[in-house]
Amino acid sequence: MTPSPTMKAVLASAYGSPDVLALHDVPKPTPKPGEILIRVSATSVSAGDCEIRSFKVLPFLWLPLRLWMGLRRPRMVLGQELVGVVEAVGDGVTRFAPGQRVFGLSDTYFGSYAEYTCLPQTVPLAAAPANLTDDQAAAAPLGGLIALDFLRKAGIQPGQRVAINGAGGSMGTFAVQLAKQAGAVVTAIDTADKHEMLRSLGADTVVDFRREDFTQRGQTFDAILDVVGKADFGRCVRALTPNGRYLTPNPTPSLMARAWWLHRTSQKRVSVVFTHDEATLLDDLAARLASGSLQSVIDRRYPLEHIAEAHRYADSGRKLGNIVITVA
Ligand SMILES: NC(=O)c1ccc[n+]([C@@H]2O[C@H](COP(=O)([O-])OP(=O)(O)OC[C@H]3O[C@@H](n4cnc5c(N)ncnc54)[C@H](OP(=O)(O)O)[C@@H]3O)[C@@H](O)[C@H]2O)c1
Repeated sequence: MTPSPTMKAVLASAYGSPDVLALHDVPKPTPKPGEILIRVSATSVSAGDCEIRSFKVLPFLWLPLRLWMGLRRPRMVLGQELVGVVEAVGDGVTRFAPGQRVFGLSDTYFGSYAEYTCLPQTVPLAAAPANLTDDQAAAAPLGGLIALDFLRKAGIQPGQRVAINGAGGSMGTFAVQLAKQAGAVVTAIDTADKHEMLRSLGADTVVDFRREDFTQRGQTFDAILDVVGKADFGRCVRALTPNGRYLTPNPTPSLMARAWWLHRTSQKRVSVVFTHDEATLLDDLAARLASGSLQSVIDRRYPLEHIAEAHRYADSGRKLGNIVITVA
């Protein structure tokens, strides 16, 4: 009997520090109906990967996430972003064909820390433009899609003031570029060692959150994107213009209750930004990356076998933009 084919994949032995991650031989997946088998060329270390690995999640998400991800350890291979080549497709797949180079987001299916992954064709995946490097493509889907959602929901007009809290990470670096291109005057908030990079992306003002509260500078903003959800919500609301908008990728029940009250009592608004599975949004992102108008900020690259070291660096708080993992 021929042995079933295997592949290298990163498994986590528990929830915890980066040391729980290690490379293993596991069965190579085969696509079921509606699925695509992708040979992964590169992936990334996203905030979501680190949050699931360490299980530092918001309390109201604890139980549903444990039930979804695994009670004692993550059942699935981590890794949310990927670029690779379609190797095979399951019955009923119409959008993709073997040999096509694609990039995108595996979303809640994760699975990109492996030589191969099978994903439903419904996840945000698009053809990767030929001039887009694997590094640029692997680092873009998550931060880029949320930043595009921020752009359309913030409704930025030229000359408006925009603050981005947590600007130096994956989402923030794309949001700074898009806000700037929309004509905003951008205040970028993150640690001082990320300020030079943020200025190079177009930030007009940079603020170190360890030294100063950006909401207490006597300035008002037409939009505040709190990427990390760590700014005080009440202070952010007070720092908004009368029609200003607070945007967050981290909605909590208490924040949404306060948003409901705000909507009833003022013209200020709260919007949740998230990664959409609309193919057109990823195509828009691909076009902006291919034309060079938008750039993935890449700090470091690690091979898949050094995944624990890559996660250690992500946890260090020194990451500028994104960390890419090369697989092929
Ligand atoms: N809604 C959705 O669909 C969705 C999808 C994906 C992710 N998310 C959430 O979005 C969040 C951020 O994602 P990301 O990929 O941009 O993360 P990221 O790459 O880790 O970037 C976050 C940035 O914020 C900085 N930071 C940390 N504490 C801060 C504080 N108190 N004030 C200001 N900045 C601070 C970080 O600095 P250090 O590196 O020094 O810590 C880092 O530069 C995560 O919480 C994630 O769960 C939501």
